[in-house]
Amino acid sequence: MKALRVNRLSDDLSGVALEDIAEPERAPGEVLVRVRAASLNYPDLLMTRGEYQFKPEPPFTSGLELAGEVIAADPDSGFTPGDRVMGGNKTGAFAEVASIPARGLSPMPDGLSFAQAAAMGAAYSTAYTGLVELCGLRDGQWVLVHGASGGVGLAACDLARALGARVIAATGVEAKREAIAVQAKPDHVILAEGRFREAVSDLTGGALAEIVFDPVGGDVFDESTRCVAFGGKLVVVGFTSGRIAEIATNIPLIKGFSVVGLRAGEYARRFPQRGAAINAAVRDLAEAGRISPAIDRVLSLENWREGFEAMARRELVGKVVFEMAG
Ligand SMILES: NC(=O)c1ccc[n+]([C@@H]2O[C@H](COP(=O)([O-])OP(=O)(O)OC[C@H]3O[C@@H](n4cnc5c(N)ncnc54)[C@H](OP(=O)(O)O)[C@@H]3O)[C@@H](O)[C@H]2O)c1
Repeated sequence: MKALRVNRLSDDLSGVALEDIAEPERAPGEVLVRVRAASLNYPDLLMTRGEYQFKPEPPFTSGLELAGEVIAADPDSGFTPGDRVMGGNKTGAFAEVASIPARGLSPMPDGLSFAQAAAMGAAYSTAYTGLVELCGLRDGQWVLVHGASGGVGLAACDLARALGARVIAATGVEAKREAIAVQAKPDHVILAEGRFREAVSDLTGGALAEIVFDPVGGDVFDESTRCVAFGGKLVVVGFTSGRIAEIATNIPLIKGFSVVGLRAGEYARRFPQRGAAINAAVRDLAEAGRISPAIDRVLSLENWREGFEAMARRELVGKVVFEMAG
């Protein structure tokens, strides 16, 4: 089968290649899946460089998220051949066949294509865990979402809007503002550059944001500490800016906000019942047509490099999906 292999760690994707390898063998507890579509997440890019917190030893097959059909499963797994499933593990999705632990998969929502399902799972469960599970998002709250053109950022905008929040989408790239407005339909789109607190204050009538959702870190995080309302939450999601920000503990004390660390995947592993409830809530919203993932482009796996490079160059507004042949 075709699989995207990371043969050695590299900063320029030179250690990555599409290769013909043997199909994986299913271990007990795993489900063998014919992959129909798989989506690119920022950690996939980081893992090619050895910069993600999970550091698999090369060679390994890249890809943490897929949608497809069950080929084989344990009789007590809850899955049977032909079931349409979505989910994944930390690696292995960018291949024609993947063997995934049963707990990493869930049924696809009705009405979604394989491409939509592959684009939805990780981004929306991350957004839901951060906004709803950890911050108790409520109707009418102001939510400021950074990295709004990214998979997780667009999902957070879409979800917060669907749940009745007032959404300020923030991007670091002026040229992306219009596309974000079209894709995520937030109440406002701002440029997260320099002193953007004034913009947040103006838009919220001085109230500031009850929740700030930050996949970017660095300078964006620093300025965001000035954008959180008293009693609000600043959610640390990731560090796409390349800098892990630091904060003096007197700042959240004086300003009365909490800094919340989000690890959506680990949260679901440690609290499997909560993880299942989060997936079910996202599925219900998708089936009701209240949320849908933004897809920047759909590529064949042969064109994997285009997707990885566009993500590295920060060109995307929405997800890259790889569709498998056959
Ligand atoms: N905590 C968790 O549980 C969890 C789960 C999943 C992912 N994550 C993390 O969330 C982050 C976003 O993941 P994603 O899959 O949504 O990635 P993505 O699709 O590439 O989006 C990342 C966004 O970050 C912004 N950005 C700011 N500075 C950047 C830079 N120097 N280079 C590239 N992008 C930059 C860009 O938005 P603008 O151009 O609009 O500013 C970009 O679209 C990653 O750090 C990932 O590891 C965390």
